[in-house]
Amino acid sequence: MTERLTHIIGGQQVAGPTTFESRNPAYWQEVVGVFPSGTGPDVDAAVETARLAFRSWRLVPAPRRAEILFRAAHLLSERKEEMSRLMTREMGKPLVEARGDVQEGVDMLFYIAGEGRRLFGETTPSELPSKFAMSVRSPIGVCACITPWNFPLAIPSWKIAPALVAGNTVVLKPAEDTPLVAHRFVELLMEAGIPSGVLNIVHGGGDTGAALAKHPGVDLVSFTGSTETGRSIAHACADTGARVSLELGGKNAIIVMEDADLELAVDGAVWGAFGTSGQRCTASSRLIVHKNIYSTFLSLLAERTRTLVLGDGLESSTQVGPVINQSQLQRIHEYTEIGKAEGARVICGGEIAGGEGLQEGWFYTPTIFADVEPQMRVAQEEIFGPVTSVIPVDGYEQAIEVANGIKYGLSSAIYTANVNRAFTAMRDLNTGIVYVNASTIGAEVHLPFGGTKQTGNGHREGGHVLDVFTEWKAIYVDYSGTLQRAQIDNQP
Ligand code: UN1
Repeated sequence: MTERLTHIIGGQQVAGPTTFESRNPAYWQEVVGVFPSGTGPDVDAAVETARLAFRSWRLVPAPRRAEILFRAAHLLSERKEEMSRLMTREMGKPLVEARGDVQEGVDMLFYIAGEGRRLFGETTPSELPSKFAMSVRSPIGVCACITPWNFPLAIPSWKIAPALVAGNTVVLKPAEDTPLVAHRFVELLMEAGIPSGVLNIVHGGGDTGAALAKHPGVDLVSFTGSTETGRSIAHACADTGARVSLELGGKNAIIVMEDADLELAVDGAVWGAFGTSGQRCTASSRLIVHKNIYSTFLSLLAERTRTLVLGDGLESSTQVGPVINQSQLQRIHEYTEIGKAEGARVICGGEIAGGEGLQEGWFYTPTIFADVEPQMRVAQEEIFGPVTSVIPVDGYEQAIEVANGIKYGLSSAIYTANVNRAFTAMRDLNTGIVYVNASTIGAEVHLPFGGTKQTGNGHREGGHVLDVFTEWKAIYVDYSGTLQRAQIDNQP
């Protein structure tokens, strides 16, 4: 029996006339769930409900709000296996990675729940006597959280948890490819005690997301996804005046210097490029390699890549799962053709995978382009699949120039044994996240997550995320009993 799901608005299950299916990318015939496609009236209802709920939720003391998140963290830990298996069926990533995704949600809930007792502001002396001055964090209002399919639980948690602890209310619109994991997460939060109306979920695709992003009742939009969609959301928010936080694309580079531990660098490259089938914003989609070790590195990399086992993520032998859907599969393959036409050399993969167990899903062979030039499209554009481009360079300066020579700035890495070089790279790499002797993936929740340039609009998730979900309020209390004029009285 296929499960039929609804929107959840004000704690009520709301169905809709038109529906879409969530399917297993490893077995395309398997329907994971059927969901309503959210319409304008559904979005209106959810935003109005969230607005009403904001009146009381903002007055609940933050430590009390946080207690609910602590409970949710415990519940999610208890259900980690169940949630991870569901995620693998719905999104395709190998079970071990799905567990990591759920764990990232648990970590975020614990981290943010702790912030419930740390919503610190500042006190500062006033320039006038008998006057008290302080700053406090205030909630913003109704937050629209629009989330992608590649981290179906972690990314909703990055947005929902901080929004709620700060006293905001939420309308979540999860990706059309992974609505069931998001739905279960919302149910779990409500079970932990988030009141009706404080957290709402509306399902649907791009149209539903667009209706939500431009809704005049929304005070903040937090979006993770493609640069193109992010830009249209920013336009919509320019009209409504809503605050907007964007996490967009990446084209992340690992630099491998001549003195690097090559085995370690290959481990990092294989994990960073092909983990999650390369479907991470942080994926290592460029490998910038010193010419002195270039051919050794290439052969080690190709050797390792060829042994990767593709398959259903629920099989323990699987190292690389499917890609999310057919159109992504085709898009990835188009990039293989583009790379070849540009003169890059495919030394591994480059094909839609066939063979036993792979024909009913969307599988792409892990692909390495060698001898890539920095300006080629495969070295500039985000492919979001198991594809990486290896670019030879003649030294550190050129490596940095190539690494920074793109429109994105999310994550980067350098493998080197030279401590001075490592620190120089930490200074020179123009990305929001820098790794030394580790791959470009694997950010932890309590550090700022986000990027420079067109990766976003300057905001960060994870550590410091309360700067997105709160507004600063400056408060002055004059207890002098007289009119005191700032900048005028007590001045010469
Ligand atoms: C993403 O790809 O959008 O650092 C998020 C990482 C993960 C998060 C990735 N912790 O790769």
